[in-house]
Amino acid sequence: MEGQSMGTGQILSMNGGCGEESYAENSKIQTTYLSRTMPVLHTALLDFCTKKLPATITIADLGCSSGPNTLLAISESMSIIHNTCRQLGRSPPQFCVFLNDLPSNDFNTVFNSLPKFQKRMREENGQDFGPCYITGVPGSFYGRLFPAKSLHFVQSSSSLHWLSQVPVELSDPSNKALVNKGKIYISRTSPPGIVEAYSNQFRRDFSSFLESRSEEIAPGGHMVLTYRGRRTTDPSPDESCLLWDYLGLAFQDLVSQGLIEEEKLDSYNTPYYEPYVEDVRAEIEREGSFTLHRLEIIAAPWDGVNGGHKYDRRKTAEMMAKAIRAVNESMITSHFGGQILDSLFERFIDIMARDTKEVEHPSLVLSLIRKS
Ligand SMILES: C[S@@+](CC[C@H](N)C(=O)[O-])C[C@H]1O[C@@H](n2cnc3c(N)ncnc32)[C@H](O)[C@@H]1O
Repeated sequence: MEGQSMGTGQILSMNGGCGEESYAENSKIQTTYLSRTMPVLHTALLDFCTKKLPATITIADLGCSSGPNTLLAISESMSIIHNTCRQLGRSPPQFCVFLNDLPSNDFNTVFNSLPKFQKRMREENGQDFGPCYITGVPGSFYGRLFPAKSLHFVQSSSSLHWLSQVPVELSDPSNKALVNKGKIYISRTSPPGIVEAYSNQFRRDFSSFLESRSEEIAPGGHMVLTYRGRRTTDPSPDESCLLWDYLGLAFQDLVSQGLIEEEKLDSYNTPYYEPYVEDVRAEIEREGSFTLHRLEIIAAPWDGVNGGHKYDRRKTAEMMAKAIRAVNESMITSHFGGQILDSLFERFIDIMARDTKEVEHPSLVLSLIRKS
């Protein structure tokens, strides 16, 4: 079976562990999105705390991965709830935390970090903190993961731009009108049918996501989502497509050197989509189970991958190559084999370093409340 017709769950897996190539070591831009989401998360949590709270609060992080970001929003949420209860003279709640990701996620590294995490939470919040019971939940967030009405607070960061699969229409090699020549994602040269196929796949997936969460989140429960999205109706702005274009050009170099076949490249597309902000709003309204309390657009700078350091263009391109590789390596290996990775990313670095564009990387932040 070709990698392209497989579900994302079979081919997508962030590089595990804590080594130089791991997602844990190469996820600074995702940390930036998380830190820029915090004001929205704080407001949602304070609002949540004004309601009658259950004795045990259930929180889920969807697409938690493994690394410094895995427990960042969770720890912030538990601290805010704990300290707000204290200020309001209420008994501190217990927490039940669910960390979800695809089954191939490196949950072992996450589990190994939990004793230290529990200790730090008690040191920072006082010995009356918790208890806090943490569980891993392997499975796709595009289907049901939890019992009905069992969740009070859900968060997800830098995950929902991953589709459940490459749009099915693109997996049919006989459909010549839908060949994304020399590209691996939507680009300015993509035929309109390709853009439409991606947009339809996103709508199907996002609607399944909302339907599943609408069953699982108790009435009045909150959900804060951050993921890559567009602020323009143009489906191929540089903000969304430039990095994929660089990677596409790097693949084309490998084709011209005979290292991979042209058909192999033409049949590779990434199961990823950055939706237009108003299409997201429309889908939430159409599905109907959630009130959209807040919708903001945040943007990481073009060199956000450097985690706030100022490096020259080449070093920034090297950091970007490592970040993109940590996320995409499993999918590229599944389709082309792992032997091309080093050459591919060396070319990516040269291509990005030669260019002069500095485009921001926007994300959408949504704060939703389950209708009663
Ligand atoms: C870029 S990482 C983000 C991780 C972390 N939340 C952060 O902010 O750094 C995206 C994560 O989403 C997970 N993911 C993608 N599709 C998923 C799905 N359908 N169900 C559950 N997790 C998924 C990936 O496996 C990956 O760990």
